[in-house]
Amino acid sequence: MPTTDAIVMLREGHKEIRRLIRSYRADRDPGVVAKFLRALTVYTYIEREGMYPRVSVLAPETELAIVFFREEHHIAEVLAAELQDMRPDEIAFDAKARLLMDIVERHMDAEDHMWFPQVRASVGRKELREIGAWMTKLAERAPQRPHRPDRQTAWDTVAA
Ligand SMILES: [Fe+2]
Repeated sequence: MPTTDAIVMLREGHKEIRRLIRSYRADRDPGVVAKFLRALTVYTYIEREGMYPRVSVLAPETELAIVFFREEHHIAEVLAAELQDMRPDEIAFDAKARLLMDIVERHMDAEDHMWFPQVRASVGRKELREIGAWMTKLAERAPQRPHRPDRQTAWDTVAA
């Protein structure tokens, strides 16, 4: 049984996404973009629905960081949905893919280096395991492909 510590889970998601970003930057293989979009969609969903709402309550001192991260996810979802609808031979495909990856990388850096340590310091292991278990369930029903979000999507959450 894999660990369900929420921070460990999300760091593993980041690692997979970083690996795909490195791969695309090296080879510009459009097939890697499809894998990246799928990984990003699942990750975005479980973090937005599982992690942010709970940590807003358990570590309210990080609320403004979470607001910022929700907005970054929203921007990433808009670009991801546009990229999903593009053909790799369109002139802007590579530009949009690289811009999206730059934004996602910056977002993950901020979570890995700044936010996760704050959350680790404020939220107990038991709560983090409960959030992880909830995110594992969310992952099973997560969308696999980007959808164009409406503005509200960044803030809507399913039942916590
Ligand atoms: Fe995130």
